[in-house]
Amino acid sequence: MEKDIRILAIESSCDETAAAVVRNGRDVLSNVISSQIELHKLYGGVVPEIASRKHIEKINQVIEEALTTAGVGLDDLDAVAVTYGPGLVGALLVGVAEAKAISYAKRLPLVGVHHIEGHISANYIENRDLEPPFICLVVSGGHTHLVKVQDYGVYEILGRTRDDAAGEAFDKVARAIGLGYPGGPKIDRLSREGNPQAIPFPRAKVEGAPYDFSFSGLKSAVLNYLNGCRMKGEPVVEADVAASFQQAVVSVLVEHAMLAVEESGIGKLAIAGGVASNQTLRSAMEEACRSRGVRFYRPSPLLCTDNAAMIGAAGYYEFCKGVRHGLDLNAVPNLKLGER
Ligand code: KG4
Ligand code: ZN
Repeated sequence: MEKDIRILAIESSCDETAAAVVRNGRDVLSNVISSQIELHKLYGGVVPEIASRKHIEKINQVIEEALTTAGVGLDDLDAVAVTYGPGLVGALLVGVAEAKAISYAKRLPLVGVHHIEGHISANYIENRDLEPPFICLVVSGGHTHLVKVQDYGVYEILGRTRDDAAGEAFDKVARAIGLGYPGGPKIDRLSREGNPQAIPFPRAKVEGAPYDFSFSGLKSAVLNYLNGCRMKGEPVVEADVAASFQQAVVSVLVEHAMLAVEESGIGKLAIAGGVASNQTLRSAMEEACRSRGVRFYRPSPLLCTDNAAMIGAAGYYEFCKGVRHGLDLNAVPNLKLGER
């Protein structure tokens, strides 16, 4: 039997300080997440400078807890993996500097990981049978990508958003309704009490690019609807607005994902990223896949939003391919998927 590979993974690209120990890319020995949401809530969104400072305060504690929970010491590790982009530069730098320090002190190989590759790889953790090729819809606060995963670490981007990311649209609409930050989970919850057919919000298509997304028109339609109600003195049924908006986003996401599955002939679809924890999206996608005989994969909600276990999963496959970064590894805020 081959030797086990234990990777310490670090994630600090936005507002979660996270560390995990992952064995052989799929066994999560620990997954510690320190969320800053309560802090950023006060400002209605993530404040980059505050995020960086908080990461510095928390990172050692989070790593120690990850090692203790996993029952391993730094000497038991085979590599350190860290998110080096995309994300907030100051936030990323905290994780990258920490990973480099551990790598240098313990002579451990250093593996830089793309944040989106992490989100996609979250699917490997609870689905031992999942192997490329498969189609993955990545929907987070910063990204909306429809990706063909050709092999571990080999991606073809079929479509992307032309403006807002899906999560960003959720957050902006939630703010307009007065739900506060972060909006996704709040819209998800409120929608359960609303009628998704109450208001016919637009489902935007991008001319000549069937896999691309556009959510800014939908966001404006919601804002116009809310203003219209206020001007006419009509009451706003917030749950109906939330449910109708969510339905518009979900139907476009499902339609594009199914088109990619059908045209590629790949009978496997995975979803990833914070918005993938949305209940309506999960059930709609599951149903669409079931009726077409397509296998459907989705991570548990905790592995959809930012975490370090997913970085450990992605880092393992990069490590196995021989990817090593030097101590000159830097944070790359606009890192493209598939770039090194
Ligand atoms: O993947 P993630 O944690 O961070 C990024 O890489 O961006 O995604 C965060 C995004 C936020 O926009 C948040 O509102 C959205 O995911 N989100 C949700 C839900 N949970 C988180 N959107 C819809 N429904 C949810 N349940
Ligand atoms: Zn993320």
